[in-house]
Amino acid sequence: MSSRLDRCRLIELPRIPDPRGSLTFIEGGRHIPFRMQRTYWIYDVPGGEVRGGHAYRRLEEVVIALSGSFEVELDDGLSRRTIMLNRSYYGLYVPPLVWRQLKNFSTNSVCLIAASGAYDESDYLRDYPEFLAAADGAE
Ligand code: TYD
Repeated sequence: MSSRLDRCRLIELPRIPDPRGSLTFIEGGRHIPFRMQRTYWIYDVPGGEVRGGHAYRRLEEVVIALSGSFEVELDDGLSRRTIMLNRSYYGLYVPPLVWRQLKNFSTNSVCLIAASGAYDESDYLRDYPEFLAAADGAE
């Protein structure tokens, strides 16, 4: 059985090169493996700050470094893996029940996130032991 960490994967997004500048786009259900219902972005992150630090019960996300770079530490309760994002034409798919931390943001970096659902605080697992119990129960 593949672990939830194995389901986290980098998706190469379309790139339209042009002497005037490059263009990348995403369509829900096509480049993004779910129907997008929300996008949000994280910016103006002071040096050394960490975002995330939670998992979701049901929400799926794709994380894109629109500008600059940062690291995404992924943890499915069994193992951990850190992925560096530094290209705006790669998206990192993160399934439910994966604890994530976003760290080591470069100056002026922008993180865009495409999410499968509306904001719902009750879907968050913000307590690590509670996350471990939920992840274990879902094995
Ligand atoms: P949170 O998801 O905890 O931030 P991080 O990206 O670091 O994991 O969200 C921070 C705050 O913003 C929290 O009070 C909830 C609020 N929020 C919304 O109101 N709508 C949203 O779509 C998101 C992502 C967060």
